[in-house]
Amino acid sequence: STGTTYENLQVTRDDGVGIITLHRPKALNALCDKLMSEMTQVIDEFEADNDIRVMVLTGSGKAFAAGADIKEMVPRTFQEVYQGNFLSFWDRVAHTKKPVIAAVNGFALGGGCELAMMCDIIYASDKAVFGQPEINLGTIPGAGGTQRLTRAIGKSNAMELVLSGDKIKADEAKQMGLVSKVFPSENLMDETMKLARRIAAQSLPILQMAKEAVNKSQELSLQEGLHLEKRLFHSSFATHDRKEGMTAFQEKRKPNFKDE
Ligand code: HXC
Repeated sequence: STGTTYENLQVTRDDGVGIITLHRPKALNALCDKLMSEMTQVIDEFEADNDIRVMVLTGSGKAFAAGADIKEMVPRTFQEVYQGNFLSFWDRVAHTKKPVIAAVNGFALGGGCELAMMCDIIYASDKAVFGQPEINLGTIPGAGGTQRLTRAIGKSNAMELVLSGDKIKADEAKQMGLVSKVFPSENLMDETMKLARRIAAQSLPILQMAKEAVNKSQELSLQEGLHLEKRLFHSSFATHDRKEGMTAFQEKRKPNFKDE
């Protein structure tokens, strides 16, 4: 544990994996300002901590997160949200260089779905429910629900969810490509931790190159993306770990990566 106590999060460390559990049970983990600023603080801490190699973001109870806090938003005015750039700091999780896995255990609605999509990989329990219900509140998604979602599941699927506010279950989210695997809810954390530990055993700078390259595919043209990929691939040859990885293969032994 970090030694810091958070009002809306539980933070644990396990074998190089930093686990952030959203814990605001009275509001289905609705993402109030305090919760999001606590999350930003923990991610800053994990980013700076050499013992943390991979992060896991999960929920508790029947929710991953039921969205931005609607009760907090009710009184806000245009001037306030525009001039204060309301929720602009939410994308901290999308900007960490370390791999982040979302383990979606229940409701991932609105900002909750957007938060999951800021992570690198989404695993879901069979009880997970995804959706962008903002339209029912007279607003639209504001943290990636029209952009990341469309890239993840395609235009017609994303448009249908965003315009109707309909919710989808885990198997449908899997079939659309929003999540990579679905597990019975009692196995979700075990399976997520297995993946996290396997990733954590790799070389961190090489993981970061791979993450950067895949993320850039969402922003660059194919030619620019392929160029960046080639340069990062070339850069891996500047590392000890590339040499070690290939040498270990040749010598039929396990690599001893040093993050160098
Ligand atoms: C504030 C919320 C909340 C939310 C639930 N609660 N979601 N409070 N903000 N987003 C509170 C409820 O008010 C209630 O507290 C308690 O959590 C339990 O919720 P119930 O509704 O009683 O539970 P249930 O009947 O099981 O229904 C679950 C649910 C429903 C289907 C998830 O709560 C729901 O529709 N929530 C809102 C989902 C949503 O619209 N999300 C998008 C938000 S907008 P009290 O004390 O009242 O009983 C958004 C914009 C993102 O995310 C923009 C980002 C930049």
